[in-house]
Amino acid sequence: LLFFIRTDVASVSPWSAPIIWEGNFDSTLIDSIYKQQNLTIATTVFALGKYTRFVKDFLESAEQHYFVGFRVHYYLFTDQPESVPEVKMGENRSLTVQNVPSLNRWQDISMSRMEKLENLIENELVNEADYIFCLDIDTKFYGRWGAETLGRLVGVIHPWFFDAPRSQFTYERRPESKAYIPVEEGDYYYAGAAFGGSLEDVHHLTKTCREQLNIDAANSIEAVWQEESHLNKYFLLNKPSKLLSPEYMWRDINEKAAQIKIVRFTNVPKNYAEVRPNP
Ligand SMILES: *[C@@H]1O[C@H](CO)[C@@H](O)[C@H](O)[C@H]1NC(C)=O
Ligand SMILES: *[C@@H]1O[C@H](CO)[C@@H](O)[C@H](O)[C@H]1NC(C)=O
Repeated sequence: LLFFIRTDVASVSPWSAPIIWEGNFDSTLIDSIYKQQNLTIATTVFALGKYTRFVKDFLESAEQHYFVGFRVHYYLFTDQPESVPEVKMGENRSLTVQNVPSLNRWQDISMSRMEKLENLIENELVNEADYIFCLDIDTKFYGRWGAETLGRLVGVIHPWFFDAPRSQFTYERRPESKAYIPVEEGDYYYAGAAFGGSLEDVHHLTKTCREQLNIDAANSIEAVWQEESHLNKYFLLNKPSKLLSPEYMWRDINEKAAQIKIVRFTNVPKNYAEVRPNP
């Protein structure tokens, strides 16, 4: 039996995709199945400007909790390769640092990500990786993130909206934007800070979002939450095959909620005014 039932949270989406919560999967069994496949998990992060300060904690905590016992290849995009700290990697784990130009607005940094990911998958990952996860760098692991998260197309339910009514979701509401979602539509509000899946599916996601972001830019409109708004539109039209509960992208290690039995991965609290290049 791979999945158990928890009664205080939904274990499947309306389209029958599993939703991964502590208590509804057997980690030992899942590991034994996936370990036979000799998988490589590509994992991307972006650390531009002052965000390089988050790299050390991200990598060190990932080495303790993230796909332990699997082959993981981190790809770190940064405009300051010289400031990437030395982090000891385990066996079958490696880090590639890719130099990218500095950008002056955090909104532009967010928007250029999709294009960088699309190119990485096309040019470097084919035949090199089986799955990819794209994660924010201002984060830290506190608990297991393992093979239970693998799937064709994987989204994470946003920690601020998992028990909120749809009317409160911060989707883009202007019909002029390609990210537009009408008030009567939408399944979940997904976090832009973590998504993943097979190379083919994530390539399609990044290509589509990049195209939609470009159309918006040509029309001089910027979606309310940039990339996250476009990701939400993408997941509305292309339903994820697996959803991760907010255990996999929590707000802060010190915050509690009755449904959250374990915090696996969190945002690191920060002063936005201090780390972003512009307001
Ligand atoms: C597992 O995959 C890696 C990288 O793709 C490869 O170098 C290695 O030979 C594979 N090992 C086995 C046992 O197939
Ligand atoms: C590294 O991968 C090889 C297969 O390519 C495997 O035999 C070995 O056990 C792995 N090492 C660890 C520490 O997972």
